[in-house]
Amino acid sequence: MSYQAILKTTPAGRPSPNLADYAKACREFRWEQARSVLDGLPGGGLNIAHEALDRFVAAGHGDRRAMRFIARDWTRRDFTYAEMSALSSRFANLLTGLGVVAGDRVFSLAGRVPELYVALFGTLKARAVFCPLFSAFGPEPVKARLGPGGGRVLITTRSLYKRKVAPVREALPQLEHVLIIDEKGDLPEGTERLGPLMEAATDEWVIPPTDPDDMALLHFTSGTTGKPKGAVHVHEAVVAHYATGRFALDLHPDDVYWCTADPGWVTGISYGAISPLVNGARLIIDQDEFDAGRWYRILSEEGVNVWYTAPTAIRMLMKQGKELPGQFEFPALRFIASVGEPLNPEGVVWGQEVFGRPFHDTWWQTETGAIMVSNYRSMEVRPGSMGRPVPGVHAGIVRRTSGEDDPEVTVEPVTEPGVEGELALEPGWPSMFRGYLDAEARYRKCFAGGWYLSGDMARMDDDGYFWFVGRADDVIKSAGHLISPFEVESALMEHDAVAEAGVVGLPDPTAGEVVKAFVALKPGATGDDALALELIGFARKKLGAALAPRSIAFRDELPKTRSGKIMRRLLKARELGLPEGDTSTLESGR
Ligand code: WT7
Repeated sequence: MSYQAILKTTPAGRPSPNLADYAKACREFRWEQARSVLDGLPGGGLNIAHEALDRFVAAGHGDRRAMRFIARDWTRRDFTYAEMSALSSRFANLLTGLGVVAGDRVFSLAGRVPELYVALFGTLKARAVFCPLFSAFGPEPVKARLGPGGGRVLITTRSLYKRKVAPVREALPQLEHVLIIDEKGDLPEGTERLGPLMEAATDEWVIPPTDPDDMALLHFTSGTTGKPKGAVHVHEAVVAHYATGRFALDLHPDDVYWCTADPGWVTGISYGAISPLVNGARLIIDQDEFDAGRWYRILSEEGVNVWYTAPTAIRMLMKQGKELPGQFEFPALRFIASVGEPLNPEGVVWGQEVFGRPFHDTWWQTETGAIMVSNYRSMEVRPGSMGRPVPGVHAGIVRRTSGEDDPEVTVEPVTEPGVEGELALEPGWPSMFRGYLDAEARYRKCFAGGWYLSGDMARMDDDGYFWFVGRADDVIKSAGHLISPFEVESALMEHDAVAEAGVVGLPDPTAGEVVKAFVALKPGATGDDALALELIGFARKKLGAALAPRSIAFRDELPKTRSGKIMRRLLKARELGLPEGDTSTLESGR
């Protein structure tokens, strides 16, 4: 459908698309224009929390609703921009009282509770660094992030603390303060209750000078090898949160907006909190887990205008059929979008059938901090395509010309349309990560020939639409979560019976991929069903349900390269009966 045609079919009262003319915006848009809409701080500074909350209060819009939390029992709790601004100021004062200074790391491990969002913006107001953890992590992933991330303060719940932090607290000597959200119940040893500390703090706070390049957010993500990587983001990112929310999600002031992502990941922060608030939207935050009937009810009853969700969720809705959504009406719904994993063309079409509009796929990563490639409201959706670069972003396809062990990465551009290569971006967008924490060499390896290399394989068609092909590495994507095979292998290796482990993602119709582990046992151990179950339980306890393998297979030996690296690709190819590819480096485990 052309842009003109969309306008014609747009019912009266619907705002016209923010991005009316894509080609023109690509030619003319500069990030400085988005920056100039924001306030900034006196003296040229820029602070995310000011732009998301205080800016609205200063402009006389403090009474507008910022967030609505829907509890499991459907109780609703609303917060205005003014209330969120005051609460976050209080949290900033609280942190200062605890001795937190600029650059200190404040972690969260919690579900979608108001306190998490207050802590996010309060931390930013104190110029400290906010680092969210996923509440479904087990103690090992928590330790592997809180420790290297240097967390001084953690905000969490009693139950999460007891199950996930207490078992590893001894290994976290720099963790000075654990703030417990629960108002009631016993306080675990070595923790403090948040409520009384908040009450004792004042809500008067002036954000200290903040440089746009000051570290603001730390998001851990997974690689193929080594430890989790802490992607460093700065306050300037808010410029991209603002502009991409407008362009890609078509956010308008007062829009009722629902992002279903968990705040333990980058999407739940960039688009579950910052971007919609900076755009003056009204957020819906559901505290319950996925439930098809519940979700349709929220979309309908709350009058959601813009909805941002994920392919796994869309596939779970599709599984339940069209009758259920047929019982609801969605007259307010204007724009629906998806992120995190490949969105099947069937999903796009299903959106059209059930909601009267297609899902718009968007592509980005923890490292990019904001949407980079997207389908837009004013443009035809190509089902199966991730869309076109956001105005201000320059994307291309490149081929690596260096070998895996070469010290320097080199690339050459792939200019022919339709030819597969690595999706690359020209550095310079405001929300680009500024480093991996304490891993300068790993960061440098992401850049070559004037490009940031995404690690995703893709194609670009004649019209400049990008199509996802797959990951260039062994990282697993399950239900939208990026999982490091190394992290899973390391946990399994701690079991007495395990000599070696190789972990891969196998295709799954709903979750995209599920984790499977291949295990070689130590002499004396027997690879039977009982041990397989024991290993799954062992891994779940250490890693949490989100990362643990779903199935285990025993092998006498795992295929390895001459340098001793387990060839996960080969394990996967054999399991799926696919061609084995290049096995010239295979040393053992035929
Ligand atoms: C990886 C990034 C995007 C923020 C949340 C996840 C995959 C992302 C798409 C898409 C196919 C996608 C890529 C990417 N991915 N969006 N539209 N189609 N794959 O951030 O955990 O850093 O994961 O998710 O492989 O590299 P992340």
